[in-house]
Amino acid sequence: MAKKTVATFLEMKQKGEKITMLTAYDYSMAKVLDRAGVDSILVGDSLGMTMLGYENTLAVTIEDMIHHTKAVKRGTEEALVVCDMPFMSYHISAEDAVANAGRIIKETGAHAVKVEGGSVVEKQIRAIVNAQIPVMGHLGLTPQSVNAMGGFLVQGKSEEQAKLLIEEAKLLEKIGCFSIVLECIPEKLARIISEHVSIPTIGIGAGAGCDGQVLVIQDMLGLTSDFSPKFVKHYAELGVSIDEAVRTYCSEVKSGVFPALTHTFKISDAVLEKLY
Ligand code: KIV
Ligand code: NA
Repeated sequence: MAKKTVATFLEMKQKGEKITMLTAYDYSMAKVLDRAGVDSILVGDSLGMTMLGYENTLAVTIEDMIHHTKAVKRGTEEALVVCDMPFMSYHISAEDAVANAGRIIKETGAHAVKVEGGSVVEKQIRAIVNAQIPVMGHLGLTPQSVNAMGGFLVQGKSEEQAKLLIEEAKLLEKIGCFSIVLECIPEKLARIISEHVSIPTIGIGAGAGCDGQVLVIQDMLGLTSDFSPKFVKHYAELGVSIDEAVRTYCSEVKSGVFPALTHTFKISDAVLEKLY
């Protein structure tokens, strides 16, 4: 397998080959995903919840994103690494947005950044694209707008909202995004959008009509116990496996079963004799 680039994304859409993307936030997980052949790794600002224990993504800083993306990049050889721009790192001005996107690329080695929203951040996206930094868009449920949206709600159900989403997707294509995440929108709407833009759409809670799919790794591995959204499929129950492993370890340490002699190091009798 060859290194993935933004050009690969476009070629895959043209060939009708689905694009796979998963989130990762650290070196060891990135290495597993990369070796397993995932096309792209997203260092999502979902790390605010999965890694840092916040309620939403709003508190995540650019330093948090850089810290985790550096680790992911070290564990990745072939996947395209995309780093989320966190809340308030691109909302103030185009200058600010380019400076922050540039910092992310320079300090982490990520290949691209992801930005939430359409027309409201048009000038910021244009400026980042002009700096030769590939931008992935993100429409539909955009978690950084949680307060403005009034919760994590499915988007694009009304005619007005649906039409607006189609327009926003076309705008992102026009201003040079290389791909668009579509989050929590009706399956049929995501299909229409995917057919009407030439750049690949990556769906999460948006159905099989998208050109690719993304999931949060903790969700798909069954590591998030509190809440599982409708669009998540569990491909493993690692939460259960880890719980069992930790319980067994604790009981074996307490009972003296672990460590066994096979887990220990030897000293020669000659040395030992001199000790007492
Ligand atoms: O932060 C994230 O993990 C994301 C994906 C869910 C698309 O933005
Ligand atoms: Na995100």
